[in-house]
This record gives sequence, structure tokens and C-alpha cells, in this order.
Amino acid sequence: MIRHWKRHVMPIIETVRPRRIMEIGADWGWTTREALAWCRSNDARMDVVDPSPRPELHEELAKFDKSLYRYHALKSLQAIPQLLTPDVALIDGDHNWFTVYNELRLLESQARSMNRPAPVFVLHDVGWPYGRRDGYYAPKQIPRRYRRPNAQLGLERGNAGLLTEGGANRNIWNAKLEGGKRPPFFAGFRELTKDTRRLLSVCIERSISRVLPDGSSASTITCATMHSKLTRAPASSGTSCCEGTGIPS
Ligand SMILES: C[S@@+](CC[C@H](N)C(=O)[O-])C[C@H]1O[C@@H](n2cnc3c(N)ncnc32)[C@H](O)[C@@H]1O
Repeated sequence: MIRHWKRHVMPIIETVRPRRIMEIGADWGWTTREALAWCRSNDARMDVVDPSPRPELHEELAKFDKSLYRYHALKSLQAIPQLLTPDVALIDGDHNWFTVYNELRLLESQARSMNRPAPVFVLHDVGWPYGRRDGYYAPKQIPRRYRRPNAQLGLERGNAGLLTEGGANRNIWNAKLEGGKRPPFFAGFRELTKDTRRLLSVCIERSISRVLPDGSSASTITCATMHSKLTRAPASSGTSCCEGTGIPS
């Protein structure tokens, strides 16, 4: 997500002006560092959720006053019910349908139960490689019926299978095949919009399209337009922004 900080994530945060941010999946802490700097300048607070980040995350956290954040060494689905509903959720953790769908669902229903607007969701890796393929950090912890056949092998753009040598993200158990009944992210959005009948906005790397409550998508709009839509969105709307190139539009 860090490479989208300046162009997409920070402008959204500037627009929404959250009091509370939740980051799911921090890893080295690069996005954490930027988000915490924003919180420091804008009197906001942050929950950082990652069960197994790199040790460098703690070096980044140590640069900030502890009153600004809480770090939770938990998986997202354990952490969310224990935490305050954020105004913005940065979602970049376990990239599979079961986890992401339930992250969105839990955050949305938690907000609804508190009579608050759903968070603005900012999702990373919704294009290649995980827009149409599950990846698992810990496959055995995903219920069997939601787990696809997978292997700890690398990925190559344009190749629906896995590479036996080389390739990207070899540290993750990747689904052996792209596609299927429930490609992780986009299917999650569709189901969520169907469930909640709320407007979701999807921002992709080069273009931004609006996904309507019935799951169809509208024309490409500019980033600036999306930001103004965010500011004008009715209080009960959930809005998401995600990067990538693989989303059907
Ligand atoms: C792609 S990295 C995050 C990169 C980071 N957002 C950035 O911008 O630099 C994914 C991280 O998600 C964490 N992770 C895996 N499963 C998770 C889960 N269920 N909940 C939260 N974090 C998870 C991993 O430990 C890993 O550090």
C-alpha cells in the first residue's frame, strides 16, 4: 500500500479527516509510519493490527508517542470486535475471500450497531495478483470450505497457475489457480453491496469506477471526483478505495 500513499491513500485520509484509523497488515511499518505521522499532526489515533509483522514495525512505532496508537498482535478477525470502529480502515493483511469479506462485514456491522457510518475502506492488492486469486499466510486457519487448493509457490502476471521456480510472493500459500466461484476482493464487494445496499466506491490504480449497490459499475471518474463524492457521501454510506488493475468494470 505504501506506493499508493501519496497519490491515493493520503488524499483520501485528508478528505475524510478520520479521528481513528485502523491498519490491518503492517509488515515493515512503512504505511504505518506515514499514517501515524498524519495522526500526530491531526490529533487522530490509530490501531495497528498484524499477528506477525517484521521486527522493523516496532522500530517505526517507537518513533511515535504511545498515546497515538495501539498495536495488536492479533489476526484481523479476532481484533476487530475488540476495537473501536475506525473512520478509515487500511486493509492489507491476509488476501483471501474469507478474511477480507469478513473484515468488511465485521467493520460495517460494528459501525451500524453503533449507529455510525461505515468506515472508508482502503484496500490494497485487489488487482493482480490477489484480485482473482486467494493467498493465505496461514491456510490451516481458514475454514476448509473457504480454502482453495494452494501451495507455497510463486506467481507470474498472465499465468493462472503457479511457478515451480521463482515468481512473486513465494512466502505466501497461493491458490493453485486464479478465478473460481469467489475471487477474493471483487466478489466480496459485490456481496457486501448486496447485503448492505450501500454505495461503495472502488479506486483502482489507473482509474476509479463507482460500484453501484446492485453490483454493476459506473463510468470511470477521476480521483478528484471520487474525493468530492467521499465528502458528499451520505452519513450511512460505506465507501471503499482499492488499487489494482484486475477489477472488472
Ligand atoms: C502485504 S503485507 C502489509 C504491507 C503494509 N500494509 C505496507 O503498506 O507496507 C501483509 C501483512 O499482513 C499480515 N497479516 C497476515 N494475516 C493477517 C491477518 N489475518 N490479520 C492482520 N494481518 C495479517 C502479515 O503478517 C503481513 O505483515
